[in-house]
Amino acid sequence: MGKQKQQSRRLVLVPCPYQGHINPMLQLGTVLHSRGFSITIAHTIFNSPDPQNHPDFSFLPMPDGLSADRGLIYVDLVANSKVINENCKESFQQFLEQLLQNETRGETISCVISDELMFFAEDVAINLKLPSIILRTTSAATSFARSGLIRLKAEGLLHSHDSLSNELVPELNPLRFKDLPFTLTSSQDKFLVIVSKVYGNRASSAIIWNTTNGLEQSALEQIQQQSQVPIFAIGPLHMMAPSNSSSLIKEDRSCLTWLDKQPHRSVIYVSSLGSIASLSEKEVTETAWGLANSKQAFLWVIRPGSVHGSDWIELLPKGFHDAVGDKGCIVRWAPQKEVLAHPAVGGFWSHCGWNSTLESIAEGVPMICKPCFSDQRVNARYVSYVWRVGLELEELKREEIERAVRRLILHDEGKEMREGAKELKQKIEASAREGGSSYDSLNELVNFIMSF
Ligand code: UDX
Repeated sequence: MGKQKQQSRRLVLVPCPYQGHINPMLQLGTVLHSRGFSITIAHTIFNSPDPQNHPDFSFLPMPDGLSADRGLIYVDLVANSKVINENCKESFQQFLEQLLQNETRGETISCVISDELMFFAEDVAINLKLPSIILRTTSAATSFARSGLIRLKAEGLLHSHDSLSNELVPELNPLRFKDLPFTLTSSQDKFLVIVSKVYGNRASSAIIWNTTNGLEQSALEQIQQQSQVPIFAIGPLHMMAPSNSSSLIKEDRSCLTWLDKQPHRSVIYVSSLGSIASLSEKEVTETAWGLANSKQAFLWVIRPGSVHGSDWIELLPKGFHDAVGDKGCIVRWAPQKEVLAHPAVGGFWSHCGWNSTLESIAEGVPMICKPCFSDQRVNARYVSYVWRVGLELEELKREEIERAVRRLILHDEGKEMREGAKELKQKIEASAREGGSSYDSLNELVNFIMSF
């Protein structure tokens, strides 16, 4: 297939404006650009990606109705998704109409690829008779679990069970009720309305998934059997083509120099919140003393504003810095993929966002799993119970944290998980290589887009 032919084909990509959604969409843009397509990123003004980091793409900012109130965005994802979908539709439609008018200059728009939550983009594409493809940024297992929520609700099982119950969910083995992927603040009913929309009948012609057969073969096969449209599992996207950072917060690279000074596999990397979750003062105090008491070296990401009532690290307990000395390094935001690839890192305490989970497995790093909400719970269950490359941290209590860190970094149990993580790493590397499932699936996706 001639690269020149694709150069005249433009793909319009529409990410949802959260870090965990922006990263895979921009990685997808890089992957498809490397296959010869021109890329436009249509994005909200809120949390907009930095065009300077992606000189090969063009960018279209869309007024979103959210930008004036930054506080809102982190509180209720479901409510925010509604606002974005209402506000972006018109400008996106105008933009695509303009692009279509310019098609006479030799460039065609092949299709619109939108995040599963950006419904307006799918609607506009279909209105304008453009092909539309959805990108799902979660695991395939999460999709099952979310579809399962609707069934459980209909059967009255959601109300009859405590959301912290260890009991297995019927037909969703190995998930327990406490692993179900509810969002943070929306009411259950409002959340289920969005879930039905996301996983119900969609007008798009295909679904791209940031996962791989190497990890989720049976879930993917079942999904394909039930799906009316082709699905392309081409992940982990960050492994499919080298891409520039799309961090919304400036990465502090000094932590890499600090890591250079630490012994092999000695450091626990702690990024336990991802880009959305937050901690109370009590929780940050327990975390701090748990890390200090473990006597292991740690690199801790504390995102600005993520500790309630403070801008950054003002509420860390008195005496903590003296207690840890050079054994601790705290940053606002880390170059995470490079950190995980660093030989000094022996484990990752994570909230188990899907990107973090894929990035950790891709580097063969075992995990401490402490999910905060949503799909993180499903991912944590798979990491600890199915793939067995991590251990579960039940409660944010200092004794439990100390024990978990020592188990992972010092004990045989941690070594076994590291071995398991290395095997998984090899498996997903094989799927990303020529002849592997993600590699083949990507070729099929390119052919599919070329057939429009
Ligand atoms: C959110 C949800 O929490 C997650 O469950 C869902 O799968 C995607 O949306 P988020 O909390 O942002 O994601 O977590 P995650 O999916 O792990 O994405 C975070 C991204 O930020 C990762 O790509 C990670 O590499 C990056 N990151 C994080 C950094 O670059 N530096 C940091 O210091 C921390």
